[in-house]
Amino acid sequence: MTISIDAPAETTAARESRVVLDPGHGEAFTEHMISMDWTEGEGWSAPEITPLRNLSIHPGMIGLHYGQVAFEGLKAHRRADGAMGVWRSGDHALRFQRSCRRLAMPELPAEAFVAAIDQLIDADEGSLSTDPSHSIYIRPMMFGTDTSLMLRPSRSYRFLLMAFVAGGFFGEDVESVSVLVSHEYSRAFPGGTGNVKVAGNYAPSFLAQREAEAAGCQQVVWLDALEGRYLEEMGGMNMFLVRGRGADAEVVTPQLTGTLLPGITRDTMLTLARRLGYRTGEERISLEQWRAECASGTISEVFACGTAAVVTPVGRVHDRDGDWTIGDGTPGEVTMALRKGLTDLHHGVADDPNGWLHACTRS
Ligand SMILES: Cc1ncc(COP(=O)(O)O)c(C=O)c1O
Repeated sequence: MTISIDAPAETTAARESRVVLDPGHGEAFTEHMISMDWTEGEGWSAPEITPLRNLSIHPGMIGLHYGQVAFEGLKAHRRADGAMGVWRSGDHALRFQRSCRRLAMPELPAEAFVAAIDQLIDADEGSLSTDPSHSIYIRPMMFGTDTSLMLRPSRSYRFLLMAFVAGGFFGEDVESVSVLVSHEYSRAFPGGTGNVKVAGNYAPSFLAQREAEAAGCQQVVWLDALEGRYLEEMGGMNMFLVRGRGADAEVVTPQLTGTLLPGITRDTMLTLARRLGYRTGEERISLEQWRAECASGTISEVFACGTAAVVTPVGRVHDRDGDWTIGDGTPGEVTMALRKGLTDLHHGVADDPNGWLHACTRS
């Protein structure tokens, strides 16, 4: 094992009062972390909870050089009754196993994943205010820890769990975002790692995201890598189109072709949409079709969804062949109904027949 834990890490969480009032996204870390190690022959060590601390690593650590790093992102919410609930942790555990398997890493048993999260939330729930738009974003991750620059899988691993208090990903209010269609860069390709959550998928997306921002957009729309034609994802989120209006609306998302991440929120949206009485579909949707159906008024709304962004309406598309507006550019009725359906489940104020909100603290 090549890593040890030393000095406490810098954290912006208010240590004195613990409660974080203005969290932003990604920097207001909570006070604790959980670590587990895996070694060949011995398997997993018992989880250790400590204050959040820096790691001390050997510069030749395999995970750092060859990207043997998988991660997850999920949230805990304060329910209306004051207790904490973790959203679909069992499903995130299974996706984490798939990601680790894809990188030739050991799989953490789902029960250990879920229990570690419960323990961390129990320790750190005091950082979360009662503001219902705030949540605790939980980041499980695993990386190869061998000191070796041989091109081979590591023989030892560390699992880490940390968390931060999250406000709105795009700010506190629900406003429509604009998106840039990326023609130059691809996020994923057949046989690659687009359908799992591994660190190596994200750095290559930064240049496209930077270009989107330079063009005045908040997110990138990714097209399939082979033909550069079909809609896949929107930044680190899945995307949905709404055809028609009111009770007759149809809620459609790009089908899982092996190059899209099967989002837990995507799955939730499909289920919720059916529960709200909308028709749903998973389709191969081309960019030309998207543009034409927006122009004819067939597509009335578009939204992106994911753990971080929840449900975010899309108002405008910026493309090399011209820009277009979706509906009247403001958040649509179906989008907002689905968003409310989801946040009501998060806060334990809606029927939860699937048992998605897992109660995890003593309060
Ligand atoms: C590439 C990508 N697509 C989609 C999603 C949305 O997935 P989820 O709803 O599970 O957060 C994420 C976030 O995890 C992502 O990184």
